[in-house]
Amino acid sequence: MKINAESSIKKKTELLCGFVLENSNKVLGLTKIDKKIALSINQSLKDMEGKLGKLSIIPSPRDRYTNRILLAGLGKKENITNDTIRYVSGKIVQKALELKLKEFSIILPPSFVNESVSSISQIVEGTKMALYKFDKFKAEKAEKNPDLTIIVSKSNNISKTIRTAEIIADGVIFAKSIANLPPNECTPTTLASFAKIISKKNKMKCHVISKFELKKKGFGGISAVGQGSKNEPKLIVLEHNNGSRNEKPIVLVGKAVTFDTGGISLKPGDKMDEMKFDKCGGCTVLGIMKAVSELKLPINVVGIIPSVENMPSGESYRPGDIIKLYGGNTAEILNTDAEGRLILADALSYGERQYSPKAIIDFATLTGACIVALGTNVAAIVSNNEKLTKKINDASKNTSEDVWELPLNQDYMDMIKSDVADMKNVGIGRAAGTITAAAFLRKAVNNTPWIHFDIAGVAWTQTATKEKPYNPKGATGFGVRLILDYLQKL
Ligand code: BES
Ligand code: MG
Ligand code: ZN
Repeated sequence: MKINAESSIKKKTELLCGFVLENSNKVLGLTKIDKKIALSINQSLKDMEGKLGKLSIIPSPRDRYTNRILLAGLGKKENITNDTIRYVSGKIVQKALELKLKEFSIILPPSFVNESVSSISQIVEGTKMALYKFDKFKAEKAEKNPDLTIIVSKSNNISKTIRTAEIIADGVIFAKSIANLPPNECTPTTLASFAKIISKKNKMKCHVISKFELKKKGFGGISAVGQGSKNEPKLIVLEHNNGSRNEKPIVLVGKAVTFDTGGISLKPGDKMDEMKFDKCGGCTVLGIMKAVSELKLPINVVGIIPSVENMPSGESYRPGDIIKLYGGNTAEILNTDAEGRLILADALSYGERQYSPKAIIDFATLTGACIVALGTNVAAIVSNNEKLTKKINDASKNTSEDVWELPLNQDYMDMIKSDVADMKNVGIGRAAGTITAAAFLRKAVNNTPWIHFDIAGVAWTQTATKEKPYNPKGATGFGVRLILDYLQKL
């Protein structure tokens, strides 16, 4: 899909799209393009036309610009959020695809441009993300994507804004396309090769620590969880060094369990297939790193992805085992299905020790309890630092990837105390499962500002997931846009 901007309609378009507010009788921005068309359409507009997400196609009163006009409802003005344009743009592009168009145009209302350039980004994100389809394993492929012209009174920055938004959307799509791969086609080794591919393209450093070295260097968590599978564990590290030399980096860590059976503490069969998505945290980090390097952000960012397959076998780690983590703490294993915190603890300690970062941010499909607590549209965040949490909350508002903070005090830390080791890998029964998992991670970092995202509910579309045109079925790439917003503002 090619996207460009024009200040007027230069050549006839197959479909001219304009936004309409509920209970209003005008297509936003149309008067500027052609007063006569605007007048004739606006007269026939019904109040219903502006309902959020409603699309209606009408013949154009003049065929100079187009034969048909698509009216796209934005809902009531007071209900418009940061996500409205993204959402409605996704609806529009789905229509364009259904009509098998080669190209279409969207009029960006002047009032929206003045507020900020963000609505252009939202059109680009909303359309590109809605077009992504996971059809790698299907004979029948999706229709060819139509090109888009955004009609907007031009200013200098528009092509740069479009390019930036395209890179961000591509980062999301990259994350989704890997996360959607089935577990037989995506092992820790496959993930490592994806990391190498993006590092070569965009001049990042990449190194991968393999099974033998992981064990030798003391990555007790990754080694233990990985030992049950013939697909060997990897620790993948990507470095984007584009800030000043002595500037501390931001470290991003992502859980990448390519399949989580639960191990010896085997999961029930129902929906076990969805545990192919247990690598989504790692995929989010890959998507962010790809975009960070393409955007050439003038900062230092490190991506660390511990990757394993959690399988039951004669070689698996067991309940009762006591292992030593990279940070030095020992952990009593009480449930081999609580594997994410073990591999993340190693990666967090490694990130802190190796890079003395400004901040550490981790992503993980860590606990089923997170879905019980917050459902499937909001991620849980847990942090040791208020300033970092504030920045993440601000970014979350901009990108409409919703988060909610859970508390972490000493009482929760006490819940993971073990009789025989420094800590245990489960809390007390099911109580506060998301927080006790975070407490385990907290032990792996010392004083570095840290924030943890539990994306168990939001990483892929589940039964209770709110439908959004730009989140088609499967992995969502949650967190990619949010962290890129945060990083761009550093
Ligand atoms: N990957 C799962 C968490 C998960 C489950 C995410 C369902 C999304 C949907 C994780 O490894 C896990 O199994 N956690 C256990 C922890 C428990 C044994 C303390 C859980 O949540 O049941
Ligand atoms: Mg598990
Ligand atoms: Zn898991």
